[in-house]
Amino acid sequence: MRLFCRWMGRLLVAAVIVCGSCAKAPDAEPEVVLKLGHGLPTAHPVHEAMVFMAQKVHDKSAGQMRVEVFPNEQLGTEKECIEALQLGYLAMTKTSSAPMEGFVEQMKIFGVPYLFRDTAHFWKVLSGPIGKEILLAGESKRLRGLCYYDAGARSFYTKDRDIRTPADLAGLKIRVQNSVMSMKMVSAMGGAPTPISFGELYTSLDQGVVDGAENNPPSFRQARHNEVCDYYILDEHTRLPDILVISTRIWASLSEGQQRLLQEAVDESVVFQRRRWEEAEVEDLKAVEQGGVTIVRPDKGPFREAVKEVWDEFAGTEIGTLIERIQEVL
Ligand code: GCU
Repeated sequence: MRLFCRWMGRLLVAAVIVCGSCAKAPDAEPEVVLKLGHGLPTAHPVHEAMVFMAQKVHDKSAGQMRVEVFPNEQLGTEKECIEALQLGYLAMTKTSSAPMEGFVEQMKIFGVPYLFRDTAHFWKVLSGPIGKEILLAGESKRLRGLCYYDAGARSFYTKDRDIRTPADLAGLKIRVQNSVMSMKMVSAMGGAPTPISFGELYTSLDQGVVDGAENNPPSFRQARHNEVCDYYILDEHTRLPDILVISTRIWASLSEGQQRLLQEAVDESVVFQRRRWEEAEVEDLKAVEQGGVTIVRPDKGPFREAVKEVWDEFAGTEIGTLIERIQEVL
């Protein structure tokens, strides 16, 4: 109900605006406007990719189809945007796979720490049949994945504690996403997981509500968390992709031609994003270091060891089977 009022209040009910009265040939397709809400700042490479995609949609449809991108949690947190998609109040969102877990069981797989051997393995799985299967696994929940964007590997950062092994995390409050898997991982490593939305994290770090968090280099820098954290510990525990999702209600209201056009624009933005991501990861890591953050490259062995219990918990389950299938991808 709260969510309903919030969305009504923001006058965003018209996720798709059908402009029936425009002076067009009778068989011309109606104008479509798709609103896309997400939580990242505008200098972030994933936001840039969505702006690129919106431009492609505009160009390919000669302005008949538009995607309007709302960054910085303007339309709500990732969880709220996902819920709005299910209700059909919002057309699209870009979310980390972590909050998707609460809606689509299979998404938990990305939260299994140290699952992927390296970037090449990660992309081989995501671009292959397993990746496609997971992307569409939310259709019965009214959530259709359109693509994965690269979100690199996530690592810890702390306000003032140098972390070399999981034992150094003991007693530290570590911000996590709205995700059971992230909570399990931080607990297994000895920290105290504290869920907070991305938009509230800067203040929470600044005011000492939490002692640290974890994320990829572009998010660490573009959200300016490096201003309030002195250590970035590259333990690279998870590779959670970013996912572009459309409400199946809205998807079904598009013609086949519009669906094809949108998917093409999305696919082109993926190529753009992966190139941009590679540059941004390097640039942002360098920039935070030059800005005074100490970069720590710990031995990952003890971190891997600490999260074994997270793996063991899934033995014999659907996620356990997915883990095995992913390990078999060479
Ligand atoms: C990454 C991801 C975001 C997510 C954020 C977080 O930056 O791209 O989608 O919101 O992590 O930690 O909440």
